[in-house]
Amino acid sequence: MHAWLCENPVGVEALTWKELPTPEPKAGEVLIEIKAASLNFPDLLIVQNKYQMKPPLPFVPGSEYAGVVRAVGEGVQHLKVGQNVACLSGTGGFGTHTLAPAALCMPLPDGFGHVDAAAFIMIYATSYHALIDRAALKAGETVLILGAAGGVGTAAIQIAKAAGARVIAAASTDEKCALCRELGADETINYSVHTPQGTLRDEIKRLTGGNGPDVIYDPVGGDFAEPAFRSIAWRGRYLVVGFASGPIPNLPLNLPLLKGASLVGVFWGNFAKNEPKANAQMMQTLAGMYLQGQIKPVIDQTLPMSELSKAYAIMGSRAVKGKLVLVN
Ligand SMILES: NC(=O)c1ccc[n+]([C@@H]2O[C@H](COP(=O)([O-])OP(=O)(O)OC[C@H]3O[C@@H](n4cnc5c(N)ncnc54)[C@H](OP(=O)(O)O)[C@@H]3O)[C@@H](O)[C@H]2O)c1
Repeated sequence: MHAWLCENPVGVEALTWKELPTPEPKAGEVLIEIKAASLNFPDLLIVQNKYQMKPPLPFVPGSEYAGVVRAVGEGVQHLKVGQNVACLSGTGGFGTHTLAPAALCMPLPDGFGHVDAAAFIMIYATSYHALIDRAALKAGETVLILGAAGGVGTAAIQIAKAAGARVIAAASTDEKCALCRELGADETINYSVHTPQGTLRDEIKRLTGGNGPDVIYDPVGGDFAEPAFRSIAWRGRYLVVGFASGPIPNLPLNLPLLKGASLVGVFWGNFAKNEPKANAQMMQTLAGMYLQGQIKPVIDQTLPMSELSKAYAIMGSRAVKGKLVLVN
């Protein structure tokens, strides 16, 4: 097997494509031949030692991937050799093969291709858990989605529309806003024009008839959080999803008080660990929504696995619309 190895977490340029011994699965594990792997934001951070999870060195980055089971370890019941699976195990995806805990593998029904499957679990699980479970989004409510053309953002648009909500998608370019409208967003805000320091609040107010959004989905943080929160509706729910712009905002606590609003933390990975049954049920619901055509990952482009550093550069420059996928 071959894989991109991180021996020194100082950035993408230090990764090397190495031949490694193909491992045997231990009890509870499977060996997967990787067909496709997608990039998620933590993949950028983990090779720079900036992510909360710091795997022991050396490691193969690549949090999420899909492929074919080639060997199963002792005690594995629900997977067999030849089965197509998707997996989100945190590392291992940027190579030709990897060992994965069988419990983290999602068997793929017929009709679920490897490219879509590799780009599925993280974004839909996060956005469904956030909007439906944590915010209890209801049909007819208005949701404002920041960073709406990114990975979790595009998933959030599709899930909110499937739930019958009105969607205001906010992103940094007209091109990204156009993609959001194609995905079903009812309104868009280009926040490079309506900036957080400028007219962002006026525009949100205008698009919500003065009421503000019932739910705000925020994977961006930084300068956007406070003006967005100040625009929220009475009894609104503000979803803290991530800080893609860098800074973690400090929100004055009088704001939730004044709006009778909730600040709601979202951490899908810990939800999956703490509530595995509820997570498994949610994943089944999401697979069903995919097969019925209600949700489908937006694939910006696929690149050969050998072009990992190019893929990282595209993601690092904020240029991805939807997801980037590497294929073997
Ligand atoms: N809480 C959870 O359970 C959970 C799960 C998954 C992901 N996340 C977090 O959610 C965030 C988004 O993840 P993702 O995979 O959707 O990433 P992504 O595809 O790169 O999207 C992030 C979006 O953030 C916006 N952005 C604003 N400032 C940026 C900057 N300085 N650099 C890069 N992007 C910037 C970009 O949109 P514009 O250009 O339109 O502003 C971009 O489309 C990350 O912080 C990630 O860690 C959280």
